[in-house]
Amino acid sequence: MQQNVRKTSGDTSWFVRDRFGMFIHWGLYALPARHEWVKTNEKIPEDVYQRYFDYFNPDMYEPKKWAEFAKNAGMKYVVLTSKHHEGFCLFDSNYTDYKSTNTPYGKDLVKEYVEAFRAEGIKVGFYYSLIDWHHPDFPIDVFHPRRDDENAKELNEGRDMKKYAEYMRNQVTELLTNYGKIDIIWFDFSYSNNTYKGFKGKGKDDWEAEKLIKTARDINPNIIINNRTEIEQDLWTPEQVQPDEWVKDDDGNLVVWEACQTFSGSWGYHRDEETWKSPEVLIRMLIDTVSCGGNLLLNVGPTARGCFDSRAEYALTQIGKWMKFNSRSIYGCTEAEVPASDGVKYTQNGKMLYAHILTYPAFSLKLKGLAGKIAYAQLLNDASEVQFEEKGDDVYLSTPRVKPDQIVPVIEIFLK
Ligand code: GLC
Repeated sequence: MQQNVRKTSGDTSWFVRDRFGMFIHWGLYALPARHEWVKTNEKIPEDVYQRYFDYFNPDMYEPKKWAEFAKNAGMKYVVLTSKHHEGFCLFDSNYTDYKSTNTPYGKDLVKEYVEAFRAEGIKVGFYYSLIDWHHPDFPIDVFHPRRDDENAKELNEGRDMKKYAEYMRNQVTELLTNYGKIDIIWFDFSYSNNTYKGFKGKGKDDWEAEKLIKTARDINPNIIINNRTEIEQDLWTPEQVQPDEWVKDDDGNLVVWEACQTFSGSWGYHRDEETWKSPEVLIRMLIDTVSCGGNLLLNVGPTARGCFDSRAEYALTQIGKWMKFNSRSIYGCTEAEVPASDGVKYTQNGKMLYAHILTYPAFSLKLKGLAGKIAYAQLLNDASEVQFEEKGDDVYLSTPRVKPDQIVPVIEIFLK
């Protein structure tokens, strides 16, 4: 399958092998702790939002711990919000005062992050918001906190998008030169068709996306860039949905893609959000993603103390327990080239086929159309043989009576 995938300018060879990454949404919005869009959802004025800057002091920030959690969960790359829509920069930028070094915490959070994850052998990426609800040159639009102010039109006067586009290029240059080699830059997001009260939405022309992309590629031609500037690049990024087939571009070509998902519906830390997905659902999302040839970027929203929420730690630990024994069905794997079968989800890596058992059978597991194709089969978690017999076109595996102690048991099949 992989050979038919649309070519990328950036180096995606490691990316499609590694399959599983950690997203981190962190910013001032961790203090109000009611969604990373809180500033605009509640239309909070600048002087009121300032309190989160004045009290930002994540005294327990130890990115080494974050990196350990990522590593133990089997995640191979990470993408941190260097700046989210609120405009606050987690890095020491020469182009703004609205940055972590000017808060009570006083340090460059990005620097510590990069060092910690790199030390664990995890590839490092930055999310960079195209939207900016703090920058004085960013024109008010449909998502802006000031959109419904009576004087919104006046407030918009003199805002110069060109200056803001230049600001972004300057910051991207800082991010990609000051922290060593960065593997991914994840821009977010475009909405050019979304006009509100006469305020135009924004897209590639507003971001001057061509120049922005060139800025990044001139520094690192191999960097992976997503397509949310509105210019197709390396990576398609379906959000909070699980595609049930390989993602395609407008011309029908298969593309490199990455589903991004939350534990609980909010990206930033949300104290009172209760809809946390179970470890089983999360593991199944990972399997589903790889079975359609994609990557999964799973998000954590650290607290304002700088720690992961205990519910996130629990989920990551459970995923790690599963990955410890079953990661062979994830890394290097992709969509399988065998017919689908009830109750299982396949992934494949060359001659190795992985049957993830979603509905555990009482007697035996029927795999459609595999007669004559299987040389040997074993449970992946303990390499114990799984005997099988062929009937017509199908194969019947004799699965153990007792379900193996795995959230999703996997059978590793050696194809002939
Ligand atoms: C959205 C949201 C945002 C989040 C992102 C992750 O576009 O605006 O808060 O960062 O998706 O994909």
